[in-house]
Amino acid sequence: MSAQPRVFVTRRLPGDALDRLAAEHDVEVWPERVPPPRDELMRRAPELEGLLSLLTDPVDAELIEAGPRLRAISNYAVGVDNVDVEAATARGIPVGNTPDVLTESTADLALALMLGIARRLAEGEAFVRAGEWVTWEPGLMLGRDLHGATVGIVGYGRIGKAVGRRLEGFGCDVLTNTRADPASLDELLERSDFVTVHCPLTPQTRGLIGEDALRRMKPTAYLVNTARGPIVDTNALARALHAGELAGAALDVTDPEPLPGDHPLLEAPNLLVVPHIGSATHATRERMADMAVNNLLAGLAGRPMPHQVTLQAP
Ligand code: DGY
Repeated sequence: MSAQPRVFVTRRLPGDALDRLAAEHDVEVWPERVPPPRDELMRRAPELEGLLSLLTDPVDAELIEAGPRLRAISNYAVGVDNVDVEAATARGIPVGNTPDVLTESTADLALALMLGIARRLAEGEAFVRAGEWVTWEPGLMLGRDLHGATVGIVGYGRIGKAVGRRLEGFGCDVLTNTRADPASLDELLERSDFVTVHCPLTPQTRGLIGEDALRRMKPTAYLVNTARGPIVDTNALARALHAGELAGAALDVTDPEPLPGDHPLLEAPNLLVVPHIGSATHATRERMADMAVNNLLAGLAGRPMPHQVTLQAP
């Protein structure tokens, strides 16, 4: 058995952060493009001391229990809904995440999606490429303005606030909701021209934007989600789009994720979908790798992680 702590990293990461990890630990990096299957994770668990996981890897109580030597879990994401933090904490295993570094990039993408869906960018591009652009027309591809619009930000945390800052520049009227006042969400939904979702996925926010929420939105409004797919009820959204109860939706995250190419949601009109790329810039993904490695190195050394997740009260 190796003298160095054994660490499993569930995917290659951008930049050279993993070299720093490998300099101190016995590191195995899953080499494939798709996540390691469950049985691969379970097979390695008994030997593992450190795990660097991605949001695509369920690090649940069963996996944690299968790793008696596990001493540190570092998630390459700010969201930790894929990790059973309670089960890890009960075992005294610290869990790290990557907040702050991806805030601005994700907020940028939220704005891109708002503009993209409201100004019909994907549709316009397909139209030109299909050779259908005959002439300039007064009524061609009319959309709606983001500038001056009322925008509801569901989840006014780090990323929600960064979106709010950008919207100031667009002269938008920003509405937010609070957990303490559930009626504030209803008002936000009813008044907004754009609703953009930025809360974490928790048992309380799963399905938050369902039938009732979507029915409250104006038929001229757009829904944008760059948080987590299951916060929005996929079937309810598809129904609302087909029924014309919403002007459109722009999603960076979906449920299921990935969305298969033949998923019924993709048949809904006025839908823009991109593949969970909120933090996908070279600089941000490299910073996330640095942070995830720093968390793991600290955890394995028995030091507090620089960004350690604390258990939230329900
Ligand atoms: C996160 O970090 O939670 C994002 O969804 C991916 O960067």
